[in-house]
Amino acid sequence: NTTLTFLGLESSCDDTAAAVVRHTPGSCPEILSSVVMGQSELHADFGGVVPEIAARAHAERLDLCVEQALKKAALTLREIDGIAVTAGPGLIGGVLSAVMCAKGLSIGTGLPMVGINHLAGHALTPTLTDDLEFPYLMLLVSGGHCQFLIVRGVDDFSRLGGTIDDAPGEAFDKTAKLLGLGQPGGPAVEACAMSGDAAQIPLPRPLLDRPDCDMSFSGLKTALLRARDLLVAKHGGLREVDRANLCAAFQQAVTDVLAEKSRRALKLYLSENPTHPAFAVAGGVAANKRVRALLETVSAEFDVRFTAPPLALCTDNAAMIAWAGLQRYRSGARDDMTLSARPRWPL
Ligand code: KG4
Ligand code: ZN
Repeated sequence: NTTLTFLGLESSCDDTAAAVVRHTPGSCPEILSSVVMGQSELHADFGGVVPEIAARAHAERLDLCVEQALKKAALTLREIDGIAVTAGPGLIGGVLSAVMCAKGLSIGTGLPMVGINHLAGHALTPTLTDDLEFPYLMLLVSGGHCQFLIVRGVDDFSRLGGTIDDAPGEAFDKTAKLLGLGQPGGPAVEACAMSGDAAQIPLPRPLLDRPDCDMSFSGLKTALLRARDLLVAKHGGLREVDRANLCAAFQQAVTDVLAEKSRRALKLYLSENPTHPAFAVAGGVAANKRVRALLETVSAEFDVRFTAPPLALCTDNAAMIAWAGLQRYRSGARDDMTLSARPRWPL
């Protein structure tokens, strides 16, 4: 029943991150620092994250991240109560970097260590910034994941459905690549879509004919490629206006699918939890303004409270890992030197 201060480490994809979170029972958690070092410039020439380059950069930068996070929090390791580390799922070299760093810190200081599922970090983020109570429905939508979860507690999740192929963030990234835009694709496509007209390019809305909460985004990418090639053939190149229309159409198709499947997930969720009408979104794609706006509209249709964490906490960060670790530690979780990095780890 005391105040706890946790250091979090995250390096499962292409962001190296460290953060310090403090919590006293009965009050709001406090993010004392959150340092995120991105790697987009390292992967820019390759059109996607190169695992070996990512792992090497994580290994080089983690110490510096930890140092900066402690400095910004004005704390030393002595004032930390425990270390939380993403132990998967993710690119194995990256996950290993943070797990090794956490083990080193734990051995060196004697501090307890808790391994955290990256997805649980995202799924619990809304409780870091909002006075949201369990249970709630969560749409986790990022570069690697897309699923509806009922979140009942810090270690109690059930999956209602999700993508059967690509994640929407991955589809945004591939779309950016197809259209000659920079990485990460999400923000680039969103910016380009601003001046476009979605109605000019008909794209499919995959799996809406199925009543469940499953989604598919890989067909959308293929349809977009075909539409692009038709336009290129017609005009002898990709005109700015066509690029903007393609971006707008793609973004609208993804948003429509997420919105319609959210309606179905909300129906399922509310039939089980009628007294807790809450819907939260997290993951990198939740940074998309159009996605947020439509999910807000859907929540209003169902008279459900809608929450989305601030943008900086939607994308990968270590504050969410520190927060998940702190809470799991409070409920008794501990890991030792046998903690292993897991490339796959379903919630
Ligand atoms: O959660 P995240 O930082 O990493 C994981 O995948 O775990 O999400 C990154 C993904 C990338 O695919 C990126 O393109 C996408 O989120 N993203 C966006 C936006 N900002 C980031 N997608 C659409 N619109 C955005 N504004
Ligand atoms: Zn993530």
